[in-house]
Formats: sequence, C-alpha cells, structure tokens
Amino acid sequence: MKTLKQFLTPGRLKLMTLFSLIALPASAQSTNGTFWSQEMIFYTMVGLVFAVALLVLLVSIYVLQLLKAFVRNDMTEEQLAAYEAEPSFWAKLWQKWNDFKPIEKEGEILLDHDYDGIRELDNHLPPWWKGLFYVTIVYAVIYLLVFHVFETAPLQEEQYEIEMARAEEAALQRQGDQTYDFDETTVTFSDDPGDLGAGKKIYDSQCAPCHKVDGGGSVGPNLTDDYWLHGGSMKDIYSTVKFGVPDKGMISWESLLNPEKMRQVSSYIMTLRGTNPPGAKAAQGDLFVPEEVPSDTTSVNND
Ligand code: HEC
Repeated sequence: MKTLKQFLTPGRLKLMTLFSLIALPASAQSTNGTFWSQEMIFYTMVGLVFAVALLVLLVSIYVLQLLKAFVRNDMTEEQLAAYEAEPSFWAKLWQKWNDFKPIEKEGEILLDHDYDGIRELDNHLPPWWKGLFYVTIVYAVIYLLVFHVFETAPLQEEQYEIEMARAEEAALQRQGDQTYDFDETTVTFSDDPGDLGAGKKIYDSQCAPCHKVDGGGSVGPNLTDDYWLHGGSMKDIYSTVKFGVPDKGMISWESLLNPEKMRQVSSYIMTLRGTNPPGAKAAQGDLFVPEEVPSDTTSVNND
C-alpha cells in the first residue's frame, strides 16, 4: 500500500489545490445562498464561456500561422514568389472598402483647377462611409415609422411618464405594505425633534381650527391642562385621535393620518401640557395625573 507521502506528488497537490479553488465557492453557495446568487452564477458562466471562446480563437489563430509556415517551407522558389505577389485577403478587403486610387492612376481623377500650383484629386467617397450613410437613412425611416407614424414605441416624454407612474405605484405599494409595530394599546411618546416638528405641522393645519394653535381650545377642549374627557396618557390621546368622538364633533383621524402621523401629533399634544396659554378654555373632564411627565417619558420611548 502507498503511503500518503508517496501519493501526494507535487503535480497531484497542484491539481487538488485547483479543484478546491473551484469547489470552495460552490460549497459556499450551498451553505450561504446570498453569496452566490442566481445572477452571479449566470454572469460567471457567461464569463467562463467567453474566456473559453477567446482561448479557442487564439489557439486556432496560432495553429493557422503554424500551418502556413509549414506550407511555405514546402514551396519551391517560384511558388513562393507567386504566393507573395498575390495580395492577402485583408489587403483586398481594405482596398475594396476604401476604393483607393493607385498613385500611378491619380492622373485620371486630377481636377483641372489649379490654385496657385495646388491641385485637387476627385477621390470617391470611401464605400464603407457610404454604406454607413445608407444605414443611417434606413434607420431614420424605421425610426420615423415606429415612433411617429405607427407610434408603437413611447417617446421620451411618454417614457418619463410611464416611469413616474410605475414609481408612484411602487411607492403606494410600499406604503400599503408598511406595517406599524404599535397600536393604541402599545403606542409610546416620541421626544424625537423630527417627530415633534412633524406633529406640530399636522396639529397647526388639521387640529388648530378647533383646539387653537396654542392648544387652549375653542370648539374642542383645552389640551394644555390636566383635565381630560377621554384620558390624558399617550395611549388615551392616541386612541381619541384614532377613533375620535364622532357624536361630539371630534372626527376619527384613522383614515386621514397613518399611525406614524397620529403618533407624531399625539406626542406633540403631550408637550403642550402645562403651557397655560392665555385665554384658554375652562377645564373639562376629570383630573388626569400622569405617571410620568412628557420629558420623562423618554424612558418609555427608548425601551
Ligand atoms: C372639527 C373640530 C375638531 C378638529 C378639527 C379636531 N378636534 Fe379634537 N376634539 C374636538 C372636540 C369637539 C372634542 C371633544 C370631544 C368630546 O366632547 O368628547 C375633541 C377632543 C379631542 C381630544 C380629547 C380631549 C380630552 O379632553 O380628552 C384630543 C386629544 C383631540 N381632540 C385631538 C385632536 C387632534 C390631534 C386633532 C387634529 C388631528 C383634532 N383633535 C382635531 C374637535 C375637533
């Protein structure tokens, strides 16, 4: 029996390293699906195919050159001379696409104008250039038909509108998908300046007409004192805002403000407590003794 040392020759070791290099990412895929996504596998495959194709091309060019050299080797002097006199395929193609006039025939295209000794050749336009020009004409006709006659494809402006509509739909989708991890039984006060600022904005535009900008109350009750008809805790206020008191003139805001906004405006109302605005409405409801004042509710928010 062979020992391990005999088995692991340098050549075999190299081969094994190569295999493990290929196999390692493959095994990583089975344990961690995110590393080798479908897309990455696809692009790697395409890349590999390209690399192999390139290799095959290079090898075949090399073999062709080798064959040519062999053939040349076997040729007689005259054969070689005749072979070399014949222009190559590429040279012929170059001539055909450019339509160059040989220097010795330039007399045929010399114009008879003489600008103080400077004379001009009437060269043809190169056929490759003319070909491109015809292609652009054909392209223009197709473009005109597709975009302006049959209108089968959208123009820039329409494309823009389609994209915008799609984005809007996606945004709506996201909004609909957004779930809130709180409701009126678990909502907490937010002391985040951004939230309170947003809450103030909502309050000033939506609530101030009935509760006054300073919260002193007019149609609706005073929101700055310690007396509340429906409770003065964060959860109580959020509940009142969410469900409203429809038969007393306070509407339910659930359909108009999303939970985040109701939380923001409720938090803002919490900060109005004790501000004692001038001309505030008389207290209504029961005395509410908060367990924690808003500035201390931070701890509630941060738990
Ligand atoms: C059309 C007038 C009107 C608007 C607008 C309005 N409210 Fe009210 N609100 C009332 C009335 C009236 C009451 C008292 C309900 C009652 O008597 O039970 C009330 C009560 C409340 C209460 C409970 C007060 C308590 O003493 O328990 C809160 C909190 C409240 N509103 C917040 C808001 C917020 C926040 C908004 C804006 C998003 C808002 N209100 C907009 C009329 C309004």
